[in-house]
Amino acid sequence: MASSSWQNATTEIHAGYSPTGEHRPMTVPIYNTAAYQFPDYATAARLFSLKEPGFTYSRTGNPTVAVLEERAAALEGGIGAIATATGQAAVALSLLALLQGPNHLVASNKLYGGTVDLLTDTFADFGITVTFVDPEDPANWAAAITEKTRGFLLESVSNPLATLVDLRVITDLAHAAGIPVVVDNTLATPAACRPIEFGADIVVHSATKALSGHGSVLGGLIIDAGTFDFTDAARWPQIAGPKARYGGDLLLGRYGAKAYLMLARSKFLHDLGPTLSAASASSILTGIETLSLRVAKAQANVLELVKALGGHPAVARVHHPSVPTHQDHELAKEYFPNGTGCVFSFDLVDAAAVPQLVDSLKLFALAANIGDARSLIVHPAAMTHCRLNDEQLAAAGIAPGTLRLSVGLEDAGDLVDDLITGLDGLGRNNTSETVANAPRTSINA
Ligand SMILES: Cc1ncc(COP(=O)(O)O)c(C=O)c1O
Repeated sequence: MASSSWQNATTEIHAGYSPTGEHRPMTVPIYNTAAYQFPDYATAARLFSLKEPGFTYSRTGNPTVAVLEERAAALEGGIGAIATATGQAAVALSLLALLQGPNHLVASNKLYGGTVDLLTDTFADFGITVTFVDPEDPANWAAAITEKTRGFLLESVSNPLATLVDLRVITDLAHAAGIPVVVDNTLATPAACRPIEFGADIVVHSATKALSGHGSVLGGLIIDAGTFDFTDAARWPQIAGPKARYGGDLLLGRYGAKAYLMLARSKFLHDLGPTLSAASASSILTGIETLSLRVAKAQANVLELVKALGGHPAVARVHHPSVPTHQDHELAKEYFPNGTGCVFSFDLVDAAAVPQLVDSLKLFALAANIGDARSLIVHPAAMTHCRLNDEQLAAAGIAPGTLRLSVGLEDAGDLVDDLITGLDGLGRNNTSETVANAPRTSINA
């Protein structure tokens, strides 16, 4: 069940499910099964040949997970979606379905650190080349295109600095060059921005974050707008060319606009296996029911914190596009009328004070996650982005004194008190180790 006339607050609660069966359960049942019994041999053969839709084995599809997929597609305005075990898997699969062997990706240089690891290390092992560009100037994207370019990747709101891009301009120039644009919409969520409306072809999410909102499961989503033209078989042999795996058929011929999703599911999800469990899908669905409400509350808290931090002498800069002097202030007004989500960063005047501030906080927990109901803080240079070299950190705008906040749903006054008390105390009773000695080894999130 879904209606294109619904506003997101309705879609969050109803899309993809209506009570059915003998008991008509109000919430989506958890189909805790690995496999499905076929009524007869002929049905099994048809389903396995992928010529008829249906569940064969839960690695590639499950009824609970399917509700989440339908709901996510409805929220983002896509034609379908694939859920994955993590956001990292969603980013990887979405790109692997576009990039083959020696192909090339143009990526923003302002990305979550785990995505940078994937692109610079694992993709390099696969023979995929990546050019990182400063995403804020569309000319950089155009200049980086080569004969082999098969994708653009960017974050609608970047992690950790909450920078923005002129999405419509970038998608227009990508399409003119026959290139699809993948947008990681994790920080914004569809409650704040729907990138497909601005030309994005594929939207990915870490559903671990604000979509869930409770920090208790990991998950990812790939949503396809279904509008990109994959018909050129020389450029897209995996979609528009004959494949032995599909009995010599073309995915495009068999599945039309859903060919890309079919490739991602029947090849990459099937072969690599990063499948979301039904229990996790249920947990994410419960979270999504309150998405719009939570995003609005977090945004109100963010604005209070931005105001309080901006006036503090220990703070060198607040990286938030609501600040009138921020380079993306106008883009924020155009693309994000409801705010940019719960994540932003600020720089301390004295980077050596990072450990003391972090250790003094009572409400902001030192935890490598975002989008939780609880407020969280990380030191990107030592934690989430610790494998970026100095040049990459500088390009991403991450300074030694940059701290990222994920603003939760607590009372705004209590959050402001916590941070301002910590900042006021800097320089007093400083027994923590200095930033220079802080570890740079922790593995992500
Ligand atoms: C923007 C963004 N994309 C992707 C990921 C990866 O998601 P996950 O941790 O669910 O694998 C993260 C994780 O922090 C993220 O912030």
